[in-house]
Amino acid sequence: MAELQSLNTVPHAIQTVALATLIFAVCVFFTQINFYAQFRKIPAYAGNPGSSKKRQTAYLESARKFYEDGYKQFSNSVYRMAGTETLETVVVPPAFLPELRRQPDDVLSFPHAVNETMETKYTKLDTNEPLGMKTIKADLTPALARLNPTICVEVDEAMKAEMPACDDWTNVSIYMTLVRIIAKVSGRVFVGPELCRNQDYLDAGINYTMELIAAQREIKKVRPMLRPFLAPRLPEVKRLRKREEEAKVLLEPIVQARLDALKKPGFEKPDDMLQWFINRGEGADLHKLAKLQLGVIFAAIHTTSLTVTNIMYTLAVMPEYFKPLRDEIASVMAAHGGVITSKALQEMVKLDSYMKEVTRFYPAGITSFSRKVMKGFYLSNGQYLPAGVSIEVPSAAIYQDDANYPNPEKFDGFRFSELRKQNSVAAHARNQFVTTNEQNLGFGYGAHACPGRFFAANEIKMILARAILEYEWKNEDGSMERYPNLEQGRQTAPDPRKLLSFKKVKA
Ligand code: HEM
Ligand SMILES: *[C@@H]1O[C@H](CO)[C@@H](O)[C@H](O)[C@H]1NC(C)=O
Ligand SMILES: *[C@@H]1O[C@H](CO)[C@@H](O)[C@H](O)[C@H]1NC(C)=O
Ligand SMILES: *[C@@H]1O[C@H](CO)[C@@H](O)[C@H](O)[C@H]1NC(C)=O
Repeated sequence: MAELQSLNTVPHAIQTVALATLIFAVCVFFTQINFYAQFRKIPAYAGNPGSSKKRQTAYLESARKFYEDGYKQFSNSVYRMAGTETLETVVVPPAFLPELRRQPDDVLSFPHAVNETMETKYTKLDTNEPLGMKTIKADLTPALARLNPTICVEVDEAMKAEMPACDDWTNVSIYMTLVRIIAKVSGRVFVGPELCRNQDYLDAGINYTMELIAAQREIKKVRPMLRPFLAPRLPEVKRLRKREEEAKVLLEPIVQARLDALKKPGFEKPDDMLQWFINRGEGADLHKLAKLQLGVIFAAIHTTSLTVTNIMYTLAVMPEYFKPLRDEIASVMAAHGGVITSKALQEMVKLDSYMKEVTRFYPAGITSFSRKVMKGFYLSNGQYLPAGVSIEVPSAAIYQDDANYPNPEKFDGFRFSELRKQNSVAAHARNQFVTTNEQNLGFGYGAHACPGRFFAANEIKMILARAILEYEWKNEDGSMERYPNLEQGRQTAPDPRKLLSFKKVKA
């Protein structure tokens, strides 16, 4: 009897499931229709016609030009741009930035955008954990005045160890040299003196970043539907799991020793990020500590190395800048007893200006402020951004607008130090390397703007100060043409394979 009943219920169950599926499908269908109806109301950039494949190829070659065109055509309207993604991204002119910065993460999401580009489901780069951000903002940045002397010593040591003698002109693969210097210097602040010069730590940290990017690239090649099955099996993805394990193995004895030492009276706590995490009660969770460390390494090392490489490639073909920069650095240091304090760093305004002008000319990307729309909303001009859309801001075009930067096509290393001479608080605030606002988007914008930029600025200045005082440099073949950056789609970076020729200056 019971059997009969259960048999009898089967068709009902099937009917119910079928009905539910149908209702679900209809809902999805109408949501999709609705999405595309709203999405198509956004005007499209017309300068890249053709089939979707053709447009993607053209985008890879000419994205810079497309965003510059779009910037001129659409100043008070968002528009669609065919990039490499299946769904077009929506480009937002800078006029809308102030209203966008007010949108919370559940409307306009930074972590979700990172999730998508970095394939975090499989690469496991941690975007959930706000602790990294919190520690950088609350512990690192306020500690810089205290830490600068330590950072400065590490910069000197790392440069001595990594740069060849250069008594005569010597070719140096500067990008990889900088990566190692910066891994050591940031490592001093992230994990402390026990590990920052440890070869295994340096290898793991440096390679993790490159391997993460390689893994992300391989995952993107797999069809989205197959990714849950195939992505974890990719060798590039498995390598990341190995690095996570290595990081734990490296951290374990140090964390244990520090936890033990905490129990002893009079133990002076180390002053580094690993300890700040422990102080915040995270000492017991090695897995989390390892992920946090890998997260900041990813955010910090190559970004900083690429920025310094861009600056050094630019200086190599502008020898006239060496003397005024060297004079400034020498006189500021003399005024501070030879120590690069926070005050000394602030006084290096020409150096700060040069760094900033290089990032204006050679920004880290053609676009910035990548965000994902989680809940649809209206802009002040009445346009609607439906949920599911990715947005970006054309930062390279903003840097070439003469309304923001007079004679934008001219490289003027002291553009910003001249502006700061106006000596108003606003002139100082708006013209620094670390400034983020509607015209300065290299470190992002709004609540998620790079929290590490104050540390990065100090580290970069210390490296350049030491380099400019001690060396002069030029292109390896002596040519006076700046090494062109590599560009593909919205990505742009200095060519890491180029050599610069360095020579010690006689004091
Ligand atoms: C010159 C070097 C650097 C550049 C160009 C850079 C650039 C950026 C950019 C463009 C963003 C995204 C911001 C946005 O979309 O609004 C970002 C975020 C971030 N950066 Fe940096 N960065 C640099 C160095 C560093 C360093 C040294 C650290 C760590 C100490 C760091 C930690 C972070 C973190 C944790 C985030 C994510 C913020 C969040 O989740 O809200 N960055 N960075
Ligand atoms: C980002 O991805 C992680 C891992 O897949 C997930 O746990 C998290 O909820 C995602 N965050 C957002 C904002 O989508
Ligand atoms: C540096 O490289 C250039 C170009 O490859 C070469 O001509 C030059 O001899 C090299 N200099 C030294 C000192 O090795
Ligand atoms: C790190 O990467 C470099 C370059 O890809 C490679 O030569 C080196 O063997 C790697 N090191 C480790 C420890 O995996």
